[in-house]
Amino acid sequence: MTFEQEIKRRRTFGIISHPDAGKTTLTEKLLLFGGAIQEAGAVKSNKIKKSATSDFMEIERQRGISVATSVLAFIYKDKKINILDTPGHKDFAEDTFRTLTAVDSVIVVIDVAKGVEEQTEKLVEVCRMRNIPMIVFINKLDREGKDAFDLLDEVEQKLGLSVTPLSFPIGMGYDFKGIYNIYEKNINLFSGNSKQNIEETIAFDDVSSSELEKIIGEDAADSLRENLELVDGVYPPFEKEAYLSGDLQPVFFGSALNNFGVRELLDCFIEIAPDPRAKKAEERLVEPNETDFSGFVFKIHANMDPKHRDRLAFVKIVSGKFERNKPYLHVRHDKKLKFSSPNAFFAEKKEIVDTSFPGDIVGLHDTGNFKIGDTLTSGEKLQYRGIPSFSPEHFRYINNADPMKAKQLNKGIDQLMDEGVAQLFTLELNGRKVIGTVGALQYEVIQYRLEHEYGAKCTYENLPVHKACWVEPEADNEEFSEFNRVKQKYLARDKSGQLVFLSDSAFSLQMTQQKYPSVKLRFTSEKD
Ligand code: G4P
Repeated sequence: MTFEQEIKRRRTFGIISHPDAGKTTLTEKLLLFGGAIQEAGAVKSNKIKKSATSDFMEIERQRGISVATSVLAFIYKDKKINILDTPGHKDFAEDTFRTLTAVDSVIVVIDVAKGVEEQTEKLVEVCRMRNIPMIVFINKLDREGKDAFDLLDEVEQKLGLSVTPLSFPIGMGYDFKGIYNIYEKNINLFSGNSKQNIEETIAFDDVSSSELEKIIGEDAADSLRENLELVDGVYPPFEKEAYLSGDLQPVFFGSALNNFGVRELLDCFIEIAPDPRAKKAEERLVEPNETDFSGFVFKIHANMDPKHRDRLAFVKIVSGKFERNKPYLHVRHDKKLKFSSPNAFFAEKKEIVDTSFPGDIVGLHDTGNFKIGDTLTSGEKLQYRGIPSFSPEHFRYINNADPMKAKQLNKGIDQLMDEGVAQLFTLELNGRKVIGTVGALQYEVIQYRLEHEYGAKCTYENLPVHKACWVEPEADNEEFSEFNRVKQKYLARDKSGQLVFLSDSAFSLQMTQQKYPSVKLRFTSEKD
């Protein structure tokens, strides 16, 4: 296969949803189609079970599982499909945001009964901002849920999307008869048999034919015809270009648990979903088919074994071929590195790989060289953009509880921050360290890992901060100097040295913005 063909056959995407909508189940069914696993239940759920939300030891254990499911790859109809795991748990939202910088498209899973939920809203917003192509899968049609049109309205309004259904349910819950596939023009009958892998479909391109009554009964036939007419009248026709530019989102209905409507989704997905897209670096736009290799680190996973502090850095390949044992430039360190055992991911296994292509993810063993957002290239000095930090929700001072171990503590904090576990802010006034996290859970994880991996002890102290805002620009003018002087107590540096304003309330943030209009405060660290 030529280099060009290798690129064209790759589909790298993420599945996003609110916990419990059916992401894990759908992932598993997709893998079944790819023949990557033999039976249902083979993919261990990597989500944090509800019972474990307050039990960080359990989370530590599950982190082990999630290394294996960080990337799941399989081949389907000659396409190489890479699914990147996106944790649905809100305490790990930052992880998911970063992973979304490495996907070329996403599938959004929505529970037919619950409709659009909070985490879905947040994640879709990030995708919308980046014009990532999205397909919506409405799941659990075997259960009673909301009316299909009401749901489509809800998706448009709450998620700000512009949808067009490519399939439509016939009945729902107890009366669920199947799905009319608008895209392929056939009917897929539901038998409620979760063991079946390939369902029975009947080609049906003329819904006005009286054959329809024979298959699904009079009432269902009438209402399907009515519904399809409405779909035709209300929603725009599907256009691939509009989907690819993020302007139109096709919707499928089905039941992941029953493996129903999943094949339709997958068949359409491989046809319309984008192959690896070009990516912006600070310097220029990089095309996947360039011969020189480049890629960026979007995730770092610490080893579970505390004796070996090695980590796995997940690199998305943007351009060129990645080859084992070839020296590549670590741009931030300006240093060449070679990787003797890069991992590729297949279903739930990882294995050493000699060559990887754009769209693929390689796992590189790392002893502390990488941090999230780092760029690797064949030699060109490129820095990929768009691994943002968002304002944390929680802020605490971190104190050293063992004066003999100050060095270990600093090293531990440094490395955990590189992994993206939390964010570190250093106060301008007195150099005190503040840890910001998305969930309260991370404080326990940090404390535990500092002790077990670095031999350091810490305590925390609450800090009433409402939001961290990145300050831009650091101008050399009167207003900025005054802001700097008056707000000194609230100013800190993030890990990359950017100035951050830690506001203590929504009110004071608003007042500050009014008082110093030329000092721009951003809610993400990303510069545009
Ligand atoms: P998540 O990864 O998005 O968090 O969701 P997951 O796939 O784990 O699914 C959440 C629950 O919803 C699971 O039940 C799963 O079996 C169920 N589910 C998924 N798809 C469907 C569907 O199409 N129809 C129905 N009726 N249920 C579905 P659970 O009882 O929470 O977990 P489990 O014990 O079955 O694993």
